[in-house]
Parts: sequence; structure tokens; C-alpha cells
Amino acid sequence: MVLLADGKEIIEKQTKLIVPSTTKGRYQVVIVEGRGALLKDADGKEYIDLHAGYATVNLGHCHPRVVQAIKDQAEKIWHVSWDFYLVPTALLAEKLIEITPKKLRKVLFCSCGAEAVENAVKFAKKFVVKSMGKTGAQIISLAGSFHGRTSYAMALTGQKKYKDGLGTYVHPFVVHAPSPYCYRCPFGMKHPDCGLYCVDYLEDLIKFHTFGDVAAFISEPIMGEGGIIIPPDDYLSKVVKKLRDHEILYIADEIQTGFCR
Ligand SMILES: Cc1ncc(COP(=O)(O)O)c(C=O)c1O
Repeated sequence: MVLLADGKEIIEKQTKLIVPSTTKGRYQVVIVEGRGALLKDADGKEYIDLHAGYATVNLGHCHPRVVQAIKDQAEKIWHVSWDFYLVPTALLAEKLIEITPKKLRKVLFCSCGAEAVENAVKFAKKFVVKSMGKTGAQIISLAGSFHGRTSYAMALTGQKKYKDGLGTYVHPFVVHAPSPYCYRCPFGMKHPDCGLYCVDYLEDLIKFHTFGDVAAFISEPIMGEGGIIIPPDDYLSKVVKKLRDHEILYIADEIQTGFCR
């Protein structure tokens, strides 16, 4: 282990050696320890962590039971190929199915959100090919959305800033719908007087901006990177009803909202 006198050297190393998109360096702070909601930096200064790793550290930092579970498993077996079975894999899948809505009966473990999004789209496309006799070529996502940094997830993402200089990630079969952003309504309307026009507009979008072979509509239940945009209460149920009318599947990208939060 390399011991460093202060965080300055680490900041310099990381800035020099890591691709800038993942080292934004917003806070010039090197975190060396975390316990619960507290963080400690390389100079020993303590912070209350209100950031929680973009809301992913739900259990706080280094909860002793989680640390113990990781240690126990690391002492037994790390990894085997898909040709074998593992005890925690089966038990975790069972637990997830137990605590998620009844219709979810299968689990795919992924290593990141973009991978989950890519696979959800693949499942949707496969399903419509097999069960509905469509090719499911197109996907609708929302303007302002963020779905990850892999190729198709970038195409789904409805924000120019992630695609600057990367024109190939503008995918011809991804159609972006206006988002339910009431504060800056794309139609200049006011909720509830608008009667959720952004949902009614989907009818036009499907009719005029797709060729009628849409596999799925994907959205974040609460748009995260787009500005924590909470849609009106009845938005999602109205969207899903409209999608059903057109035999289009709905994919909830809950990477940031999570479940049970
Ligand atoms: C809604 C949403 N989807 C997908 C992703 C991509 O997740 P990951 O960075 O783990 O690939 C993110 C990441 O912030 C996200 O907020």
C-alpha cells in the first residue's frame, strides 16, 4: 500500500491518469474512509455525506453487516464461470423476486446501469419479435433523459451534452418524446390545465415520427441527471395506458430512483 502525506498527490495522479469524463474533480477532496453518513478525507477532516454516491450508497458507508458478508464470501469463493452454480447468486435472485412486484419473476445481474438499460431494451425487442410478430426496431425515450454511457444507452439519452462530437450516437431508430417537465413545459402549458398534453402528444409522435414498429418506451420514473424532474402523479399511468393501446412495452429505468427508497 502506498501511503501519501496529503490528498494533493492523489488528485494530481487521478487527473493525469484517468479519462476526464469520470474524473470531473468537482470537489478537491480525497476520501479515505466512510462510516454510516460520515466521510473522512486524506487530511483527517470529517464530512456528512449528503451526496451518497449519486444516491447509490443507500445503506451508508461500510455498514458492519455488509462488510462482514463481503469478507465471508471473499474467503470462500470469488468467481466461477456461468458453467457452475453459486449459493449467493441463487439466494439473492430469490430475495429480489420476493421484494419486487409480483410480475417480476427473473433476475439478470449486471455490473452497471448502462448494462441494465441495454439488456432491458434487448429483452423488449426479443419479446415483441417472439410474442407480437413485430421487429421492434424503434424505441421511444424522453428528451432530457440520461440512460448511461454505452452505445445504445447514449442513443437513448435525450441530452446533447453527452453526445457532443459523437454524432454516431444519434440513433435513427430512437425517437425522443417531450418530457413531463412542468416547470419548463416544452409546450408552454400549465399543469393541471394542460390535461397532460405531453401524454396526448405521444399519439402524434407514434403516428408521425415512428414507422409504427416501436418495441418500448423507456423513462426514468423521476428524471435524475435531467434535473430531478418529478412528473405529475398521473403521468406514468396515463403513459402506460397509451402504450398499451399501441402494444408498446414500458421500461422503467430505475437506476437512479432505485426501488424501496
Ligand atoms: C437513470 C440512469 N440510467 C442509467 C445510468 C447509467 O448507470 P451506470 O453509470 O451505472 O452505467 C444512470 C447513471 O447515472 C442513470 O442515472
